[in-house]
Amino acid sequence: MPIQFNQTSQIFHLYNDQISYILGILPNGHLGHYHFGSRLEEPLSSDLFRADQNKGLTAYVNPNDFGFSLNLERQEYPVFGTSDFREPALTLTLQTGSQIVDFKYSHHLITAGKPPISGLPSTFSTTENPCSTLVITLKDRVTDLELDLYFSLFETLPIMSRRAELVNRSGAPITIDKIMSMSIDLMDDDWQWLQFSGDWIKERHLYKTSLRPGIQSIESRRGASGAEHNPFLILKRPDTNEVQGEALGVSLVYSSNFSISGQVDANGVTRVMAGINPALFKWVLKPLETFETPEALMVYSVKGLEHLSHSFHRLFKENLMVKKWQALPRPLLINSWEAMYFDFDEDKLLHFAKEAASLGMELFVLDDGWFSSRNDDSSGLGDWSVNAKKLPSGITGLAQKINALGLQFGLWIEPEMINLGTQLYEQHPDWVIYDPTRMPCHARNQYILDFSRPEVVEHIFKQLTALFDDAPIAYLKWDMNRNMTDHYSHGLKPENQGELSHRYIKGVYSLYDRLIDRYPNILIESCAAGGGRFDPGILYYSPQIWASDNTDPTCRLKIQYGTSFAYPISAMGAHVSASPNHQLKRTTPLKTRADVAYFGSLGYELNLIHLSDAEKAEIKEQINFYKTHRSLLHSGDFYRLISPFESNGNHTAWMIVNHDKSTAIVGWYQSLAYPNESLKTIKLRGLDPKATYSVEPNCTTASGSTLMSFGLLLRPSFNGIHMTADPIGDHQSRVMVLKKV
Ligand code: DGJ
Repeated sequence: MPIQFNQTSQIFHLYNDQISYILGILPNGHLGHYHFGSRLEEPLSSDLFRADQNKGLTAYVNPNDFGFSLNLERQEYPVFGTSDFREPALTLTLQTGSQIVDFKYSHHLITAGKPPISGLPSTFSTTENPCSTLVITLKDRVTDLELDLYFSLFETLPIMSRRAELVNRSGAPITIDKIMSMSIDLMDDDWQWLQFSGDWIKERHLYKTSLRPGIQSIESRRGASGAEHNPFLILKRPDTNEVQGEALGVSLVYSSNFSISGQVDANGVTRVMAGINPALFKWVLKPLETFETPEALMVYSVKGLEHLSHSFHRLFKENLMVKKWQALPRPLLINSWEAMYFDFDEDKLLHFAKEAASLGMELFVLDDGWFSSRNDDSSGLGDWSVNAKKLPSGITGLAQKINALGLQFGLWIEPEMINLGTQLYEQHPDWVIYDPTRMPCHARNQYILDFSRPEVVEHIFKQLTALFDDAPIAYLKWDMNRNMTDHYSHGLKPENQGELSHRYIKGVYSLYDRLIDRYPNILIESCAAGGGRFDPGILYYSPQIWASDNTDPTCRLKIQYGTSFAYPISAMGAHVSASPNHQLKRTTPLKTRADVAYFGSLGYELNLIHLSDAEKAEIKEQINFYKTHRSLLHSGDFYRLISPFESNGNHTAWMIVNHDKSTAIVGWYQSLAYPNESLKTIKLRGLDPKATYSVEPNCTTASGSTLMSFGLLLRPSFNGIHMTADPIGDHQSRVMVLKKV
């Protein structure tokens, strides 16, 4: 078992070929953090990692001892009130009103595998990538509260999983004010902070800053992980780049209010913690009850950002996503939304579907507008019965007709939402999340159903299953078009209101679980006004997530590039849409739109009926290309080559290489053309240096070493006098296929 405890040194060592995670029992029984990084060999002793320190204005633990202060120790899971002035990972309020607890080592257990978390998604151990788990039980001897810290190590990846469980053995209720999933104290502050932030239609853009004394953080208070900040952080050394240097990634397997913070203390120690956002959170834990945090994942790379991303990608693909979809090709879909919005009926849909089938598409997705009175975004949510005027054959009849055209059928739902004026609202106005003494806040004319209440989830489940049981549905698009602001549940007592958002997301997860149990063959694509809930918690159920409502290819470059730092490209729903684009009104070539969307789970979302014959022929070719290379695109290793977030951001390049390095696909993109530009090369990566590759459509052959060291020469563009065979202009792209010859 790659987890050892040395009784003499009181050190736990979790290790695999790539990393060591080392922690120890401190002189006062707390847990000290010693090392998370490259693999270290024995012997290990605590004096290699820590020393007693004495400094002014600190507080000390033991009487007459000025050498041991928790404020000067690197810790695993700091608490409040025991000589550490920094951010605690855990804050409780006891019945006495005291917030002071003192958790000390009691015992531990080392096991093979990785236990699941009740009601929450988490990574799992597999035969190919097994896990071992260390559970350290700490006790507060005054109250008898028990804290279990879980450390799971993936044996073939540089990845640690962390979480905490609090058991109330105190005999009296307590209130949890803050309980993070992980905390780690790093030796120094020479790190850059990389976060993935933005907004609706500009999700997961890369922002880089230096660490500074004090606290910096990213968070959500929206009841969803949100489009503003992704629950993912990278710390990297200033000289770390894609291919070399130290980097540490933290990701939270959670889809609701989160916080990831970094605190640099006066001694230059960096404390990183991640978990449920303590703002808006309070949890009453009754005697003998247990609270389990979501899982946090920590990746270490000494080989740059690329290795960090590859580790996350492999973990998410093999140890997180629904097993069934790990190897299966994702269907190439046509979505009705940007093609016809709410304006459709059965005839129109069938005409459209026929066209889609003739172009080679595989799955027809009927988006919003098929149910109740929904002809715009002001009504219908909550009443999940078909609009018989638009769809006289019902969902089952329509799905069968679509199937007869040779397409699978998929359907849009937004199960967490409600509109006023619906039957559901008439029957259960108290199922809406808002404070009844005030006006509820609205967004997109809709309100949020209180999924913290099991009866609400049950009601929606029943409505949906009544529809789905008989219909040949292959795919669901699960949307969520607003965030929570007036957090208040009519179903919770005043003292439990702080539990709402965590109970809500557990309700959402429970509906996912029940639908997947009942319909194991349905592929669920999650969506939250595009990429507003793009996180590993959702990825556990939904192996592809609509990455953004922005389908403009030039904007998508940043969104998909930023997303790729944590998430595999198969997880990103990416569609070819109309030009001019509906979000930006920008005109772009059909080729560029496809060249960007290939690097995702491809779909089309435009009115096929209005296309010219030339466009249809081009789409047919694109579809053939995608089908030929789909398995490489979804299972290969993804390399970021030129960043749209660097220099002037005018160029982007990336590539994907299959595992035996025999085939690769390179994508190169230019936002704006400039006159008389000099020759350019893209330095490729991941190839076999000794092999020779043919490059199409360039008609070149070159060795892997030439392509990686000198680079792939891009032929010159229009120079103002002659147009070459390969003209480029604004929003242009090239996709090149490399094959070992
Ligand atoms: C937001 C989604 O992101 C869109 O793709 C579409 O499904 C609309 N909602 C429908 O209301």
